[in-house]
Amino acid sequence: MQTANFLTANFYYLMLKGKNILIGVTASIAAYKSALLIRLLVKAGADVKVIMTPAALDFITPLTLSTLSKNPVLIHFSKDKTGEWNNHVELGLWADTIVIAPASANTIAKMVNGICDNLLLATYLSARCKVYVAPAMDLDMYKHPATVENLKRLKSFGNAVINPGTGELASGLNGEGRMAEPEDIIEFLQKSLTKMLPFTGKKVLVTAGPTYEAIDPVRFIGNHSSGKMGFAIAEEFASQGADVTLVCGPNNLTAIHPNIHRIDITSAEELYNASVKAFKTTDIAVLSAAVADYKPTKAANQKIKKVNGIKSIDLVSTKDTLQELGKLKKAHQLLIGFALETENEIENAKAKIKKKNLDLIVLNSLNDKGAGFKTNTNKITLINRYNKSVNFELKSKAEVARDIVTVIKGLI
Ligand code: CTP
Repeated sequence: MQTANFLTANFYYLMLKGKNILIGVTASIAAYKSALLIRLLVKAGADVKVIMTPAALDFITPLTLSTLSKNPVLIHFSKDKTGEWNNHVELGLWADTIVIAPASANTIAKMVNGICDNLLLATYLSARCKVYVAPAMDLDMYKHPATVENLKRLKSFGNAVINPGTGELASGLNGEGRMAEPEDIIEFLQKSLTKMLPFTGKKVLVTAGPTYEAIDPVRFIGNHSSGKMGFAIAEEFASQGADVTLVCGPNNLTAIHPNIHRIDITSAEELYNASVKAFKTTDIAVLSAAVADYKPTKAANQKIKKVNGIKSIDLVSTKDTLQELGKLKKAHQLLIGFALETENEIENAKAKIKKKNLDLIVLNSLNDKGAGFKTNTNKITLINRYNKSVNFELKSKAEVARDIVTVIKGLI
């Protein structure tokens, strides 16, 4: 795998960005590879801390690893001469993921037996997160029944083993035991982390933004929706593993996550067609688009000139996508709508849940400062089909999206 291509892959970046990753380095010639592993993780946006076993100091310097990780390397239970301790419990809780690479036969044996005679092992025993182990040793050590049994037991505790590769070993022998390459370790992490996301395998439909209903080739009926709320919901679902179809009206936004499949539409009719089609394979649909309720009965083919005069425009209702999806909804599907109200907010929202057969409604009140169109913030109340409601504070639209997705997670 080419490092340059690998680092430009959006997906790796998104999976690891902001993750707290603790790297354990043990005594093995392969310790030189942990330098590259740390560099790649930092480039991918992870916050990396390193613990070395005392014996690993013979193989690579803490200076190299602290420079690359941008954090001091930890080795002993206490900081030299200061009497201050390196709190292994805190480190274990800090970590979202622990990767022990290289993992020597000795460290693996100690992990299996709960021995904690160094900071790395004590942190391993204190951790609650998933632990990945990349063994590195000579081929006969790797094949020894003791090591084979230890790796089996290590996996049975819920740890993941990243199998070593085959090739020339430090001893000069040829065979299995070379630590997996840093790029392959990251690919393994990314795949494993993806599988653990709550919406992996789920298909989500989100509608966002306004619709424009043509009066003539240059004029339309529309509204002030920016699409920001719907885009934030799409990003949140995608970052939690969902495959998202985002049907969006005219907007200036960019969908960042590679798992968002964007369909640009202009009118309510186009939104309806795209959504009904996508809904067939959808598990969860969140309709946040501010769809025009009316459109001109007939759009003029040519620009309407002032001299000809125009006294009124005849309007006809648009198709209600949410209502249609409510009719099509199967037992395994969840349907979530939005309600923007100015009075009798709760009653109106509850009525929409019934009328449109929804599982949840997101209520916005235009009476709340900072809520509604164009703003970067929103204030919502969520009401479920059993009329249970929960109010949220004014938050950024990204945070509001997280709240909505968390509540939906509770419904599945
Ligand atoms: N919606 C839709 N298609 C439409 C109109 C609305 O999918 N043609 C969806 C919106 O995306 C939103 C919800 O329906 O999820 C809003 O419900 P609606 O009853 O249309 O709200 P309002 O337009 O505010 O209706 P009213 O003016 O009666 O309050």
